[in-house]
Amino acid sequence: MSKYKAIALMLMSLLLIITACGTKPAATTEQSGGGDHSSQTAQQTQSTLEKIKQAGKIVVGTSADYPPYEFHKEINKKDEIVGFDIEIAKEIAKDLGVELEIRDMKFEGLLAALQAGNVDFVISGMTPSPERMNAVDFTKIYYTAVQKVVVRAEDKDRFNTIESLKGMKVGAQKGATQEKIVKEQMPGSEVKPLGKISDLMMELKNKKIDALVVELPVAEAYLTKNKDLVISDIKLASEDSGSAIAVKKGRSDLVEAMNQTLDRLIQDKSIDKMVAEANELVEAQ
Ligand code: ARG
Repeated sequence: MSKYKAIALMLMSLLLIITACGTKPAATTEQSGGGDHSSQTAQQTQSTLEKIKQAGKIVVGTSADYPPYEFHKEINKKDEIVGFDIEIAKEIAKDLGVELEIRDMKFEGLLAALQAGNVDFVISGMTPSPERMNAVDFTKIYYTAVQKVVVRAEDKDRFNTIESLKGMKVGAQKGATQEKIVKEQMPGSEVKPLGKISDLMMELKNKKIDALVVELPVAEAYLTKNKDLVISDIKLASEDSGSAIAVKKGRSDLVEAMNQTLDRLIQDKSIDKMVAEANELVEAQ
């Protein structure tokens, strides 16, 4: 009897050891399942494009305060969002065979909307800065512009160097690369970040700020309607301000598809044409 008991005990402890060992490898499998996991993500990524095609629409996020890139315009008595970024977005949707839905929001909220899955991609004259590249993926650059400082026409001679703006308030769009440019390149000035470029232009006209940093095409677009503002002679250190499209990290199939559309539009000079047409729209009443 006790012999059997001893055997039973031995068997039980053996079972325990096996089970204990069993849990460990199981845990390791789960961990090394990182490989498995990423291939699972790859599958999900693959289905991203499929999901969009099935839904029949793709959602783009933009901050439509940025002529000629994206801006509001009344067309046939209806408020529309237009601009060359929007034309590019339409071509992307067309190549995917789906409808385009536009969501207009503040520039500073765009990447959060992308992360949250509220939009499928962001096109907003967005520069692929190293910080942003940590958070999202970008397509190739489809357009490049330089940074300019806008001042009131009456101050053109007064504010003509970075030093001349010492102690003055310089505006920049909140969350945009321009905010960083003011902080880094104009340390003697006080940065005033605001959510919308249109508000910054108003503040400048109303003498709440003394200058503002913005990309040249945007400065020119606003200046056609605001003769009391000019582009100053102030030279900023050259900053790479190319624009690219952002998508959620890991959606490589989407990036690839978008790059193909961009290649086509760059090669056949469509983007140049879209920029020219957007500028015409800016000037049209
Ligand atoms: N290129 C700058 C950036 O990436 C400014 C873009 C602002 N775009 C806009 N639609 N307001 O930060």
